[in-house]
This record gives sequence, C-alpha cells and structure tokens, in this order.
Amino acid sequence: MSEPLLPAGAAFPTTRPRRIRQHAWLRSLVAETVLTPADLIWPLFVHDHPAAVPVGAMPGVERLSIEGIVRAAAEAAALGIPAIALFPVVESRHKSDDAAHAFDDDNLACRTVRAIRRETGNSVGIVCDVALDPYTTHGHDGLLADGRILNDETVAVLCQQSLSLASAGCHIVAPSDMMDGRVGAIRQALDGAGRQDVCILSYAAKYASAFYGPFRDALGSSAALGDGAARGVTDKKTYQMDTANGDEALREVALDLAEGADMVMVKPAGTALDIIHRVKRAFGVPTFAYQVSGEYSMIRAAATNGWIDGEKAAAESVLVIKRAGADAILTYFAPELARAMR
Ligand code: PBG
Repeated sequence: MSEPLLPAGAAFPTTRPRRIRQHAWLRSLVAETVLTPADLIWPLFVHDHPAAVPVGAMPGVERLSIEGIVRAAAEAAALGIPAIALFPVVESRHKSDDAAHAFDDDNLACRTVRAIRRETGNSVGIVCDVALDPYTTHGHDGLLADGRILNDETVAVLCQQSLSLASAGCHIVAPSDMMDGRVGAIRQALDGAGRQDVCILSYAAKYASAFYGPFRDALGSSAALGDGAARGVTDKKTYQMDTANGDEALREVALDLAEGADMVMVKPAGTALDIIHRVKRAFGVPTFAYQVSGEYSMIRAAATNGWIDGEKAAAESVLVIKRAGADAILTYFAPELARAMR
C-alpha cells in the first residue's frame, strides 16, 4: 500500500496558485506589469571632446561628444525609447561661484540640444537637468555663501538656466536642485517668455543619497564637493531630503504640483519604492522614477564578477519600479533593456 498524499482528514487544496505558473505563455497572460521601451528614459552624458570616454564607475556608460549624443538620440528613437535626459560634463574653466555659464546660450547643454533637435526634430523627447552643480566651483546645486546654500538667489539663476535650455529647444526642463519654490518661479519665467509648451518634470522627492557617487564622478563634481571649494558644506543634506522621511515626500510633491509641475520624480528609485507607490496613490499624476548611477553600478559590478546574471537583474530592478507605480523610469540600462525587449 502506498502512502496517502495528504495526512488523514486533510482536504486537497482547491486553490493552487502554482497552477497559473506552469508555462511561459500562461505566466505572460496573467502578468500584471509589463515593461516596454516606451516606459524608459535614457540618461546621457555629453562632453566637449570628439572621443567617447568611459565613466570608470559605470561600465558600459560613456561621456559622448555632441555627435555621439545625436547618434544616441536617433538610436533611442529606433529602439522605441521616447526620451533622453541630458547631463553636460562642464570644463573647469566654465565653473564659477555664480554659475553664470549655466545660462550661457552657447554652453554645451544648449549646443547639444540644438544639435539633437536639428537631427531628430520632435521624434525624441529631450529632458534637461536644471541645477547648478555642473557649473559651480564647489559642485553644489545652488549658490554658496557664508557656509549656506542660498535658496532664492539660486532660484533666480535656475529660471535663467531654464530659459536658455528652452530657447535651445529642450522639451522638458527637470529641476533637480531641491530649492524651495523653484517650480513656480520657473513656470512663471517660461510662460513670461512665451514658452508655455515646455514641460516641467520636477525632481520632487529627491533624497540625499549615497547612490549618486558614480554620477558625480562622471561629471567631475565629487572632488569639488570634498575639497576646500565647498567651504565646509561637503554634503547636500540641507537641500536634498532625509532618507528617513516619507510623509515629507508627499508634501514636496503637493507643493510642486501646486506650483505647476507637469510630472513629478522620485529619486533614487530602488531605495524609495514605497515613496513611488505612495505618490502615485495619493496624487494620480505622472510619476517618474530615477534608477540612479549607484543602483546601475552595483548591478554592473556584481555581474562583472560573475556573482549575478546582470541582464536578468537589470530587467528585474526596473520592472519592480514600474510595479511600484512609476509611469516612466530613467535608467542607464535603457538601451540594453529596449534591445532585449525587441
Ligand atoms: C544634480 C543631479 C544628480 C543626479 C542627477 N542630477 C546628482 C546630485 O544630486 O548630486 C544623480 C543621478 C545619478 O546618480 O544617476 N543635480
């Protein structure tokens, strides 16, 4: 006599969650979240140099020439990636205490935007970061005086920076500086200049995170933050949010929406999945998330060592950001994910 399958008196389960996991086709039918290239925004680094130069801490990511960026934008379009986000590597001779180069119509960011628009018109969205860190000697996102980051004085410069990016042809300005009141001021400045069509994607809930390290290396702003130029203000904790706080993120989002933000962003993504979820739930507005440089580098580093399957880990890390509630995701994995999805 064979052993009974279940102990005496126990009933066979009527509900067997495993039943719908048996085949790939069945799993795909019941999948709640599907990632597509249309969910992605590709962050790109541009520098004033003809050759591509790898970012040491971000294997697979390079600083590209303007021509390289134009080619990448065309590639994004071909892959079905709707938009790119542009980050300029600014030469030290263009950095100053007043960050005046941020609103020079001929700066690298503006020249790159014009070049992309000439080539791709309106077929690829161009998102430009609005913040002063590439342009300040000390690497802070705002102006620095007497050991403090000045709020309203910074906002005035951010408005000018937004105007020059808008005139160059940028579709979306993305203030990532975390100064108070900047979204309303930028909206007013853009509207006043007849740029009502330019969208604002506000980095509404941006945490003071250890995961931005590789990005700051790519831009060359990390050294400045640590040295004397920063005059003692060596971190961004007086303007970026404390990771301990969740409710405060909702307050930041509410303010930015009231000031006219079209889309809001949560950043980093992987360490703030709860915040993405809460923001989407509470406001029901376009909610973007930024899988930042450190999140990318961790996966790349482990994959390079053969410790994890990099392709699968990348896809999983981005899928969960969408499952949490993000409508679009900025990720350095964008082109390889899009290629794998074809
Ligand atoms: C600068 C800015 C940062 C990032 C985007 N815009 C760095 C910072 O706030 O220090 C980080 C992006 C990344 O780590 O991939 N305002």
